Amino acid sequence: MTHSLSIEPLTIKPLRGTTFGAVVTGVKAAALDDAAWREIHAAWLQYALLIFPGQYLKRDEQIAFAKRFGPLEFEMAAISNVKSDGSLRIEADNDDVMKILKGNMGWHCDSTYMPVQAKGAVFSAEVVPSIGGRTGFADMRAAYDALDGPLKARIEKLAAHHSLHHSQSKLGHQTKKSDGEYSGYGLHDGPMPLRQLVKVHPETGRKSLLIGRHAHNIPGMDKAESERLLQELVDFACQPPRIYHHDWTAGDAVVWDNRCLLHQATPWDMNQPRVMWHSRIAGNPASESALASP
Ligand code: OGA
Ligand code: MN
Repeated sequence: MTHSLSIEPLTIKPLRGTTFGAVVTGVKAAALDDAAWREIHAAWLQYALLIFPGQYLKRDEQIAFAKRFGPLEFEMAAISNVKSDGSLRIEADNDDVMKILKGNMGWHCDSTYMPVQAKGAVFSAEVVPSIGGRTGFADMRAAYDALDGPLKARIEKLAAHHSLHHSQSKLGHQTKKSDGEYSGYGLHDGPMPLRQLVKVHPETGRKSLLIGRHAHNIPGMDKAESERLLQELVDFACQPPRIYHHDWTAGDAVVWDNRCLLHQATPWDMNQPRVMWHSRIAGNPASESALASP
C-alpha cells in the first residue's frame, strides 16, 4: 500500500503480566504528526518501554525518530556480531567487540559510567537469529516500590561508583584506555561517576533503583559488603513481574527510558548473525549528571 495514512488507529497496548511496557501499532514511527507524538511521548513516560513492530526504520528515519526524544549521544551504532566487511565475528576469538557484546548480557543501564547517563535509546532489529538474542528489560520503579521500608531507608543515602572498566574486568576483559573503538567512550580515564542508588525521575517524579553491572564500590561500605548489597538488589529487582524479554522480529523497533529501566542482551548462537541498531538519546545534564566529586 502506498497510501500515507494508516487505516489502523494508533493503539497503545500495555504488556500483560508486567509492571511496564506497551506495544504501539497503527503508526509509522518515522512519520508522526504532533498529536501522535504527544500520545507516544506520554506513553513512553508512563510505560518506560514502547515496542513498535514492523517498522523497518531506515537509518535517517531511526535517527529522526530518536531525536524527537532529545539530542543524541550518538546517532546509530551497530550492536552486532557481523563485522563491517560482512563476515561473522568469531566468538572464540573473544576480541574487544565480542567482550562488549558479552558484557551487554549483564543487567545494566547505559552510559552511567559517563559524566551524563543516557536518557534512553531507540533500538531496532535488522537481522535476528532463529532463536535467542532477546533483549530483557527490568522496571526499576516497580523494584524500588517493592522494597520494604527499612531497605528503602537504608539505601536512600547511598551512592555507587559506575565504571565500564570495572564491569568489563569482571568478565576478564582487561581494559585499557586505548581499547579500540571504545577508547574515549566509556573506557576513559576521567573521574569515575558516583550516582545515588535511588534516582528520582526528572519528568515523572517517580523513584527508581539505579543499579546494574557498572555500579560498584559504595562509599562508606567495604568492597565485599557493597558488592553483596548491589547484587542482592539486582537479584530482587530483576524478577517477574518487573521483567520482560523481547523476542525480536526483523523490523521491530523499541524505545526505552534509560532513567528507570535496566536492560540486558541474552545469548544466541553466534554462528548466526544478529544485527541491531542503537541510537542513544543523551541525558539532560541537569538531571543525569553524576554527583559532584567529593
Ligand atoms: C545496548 C544493549 C542489548 C542487546 O545496545 O546498549 O545493551 O540486546 N543491547 O543487544
Ligand atoms: Mn546497553
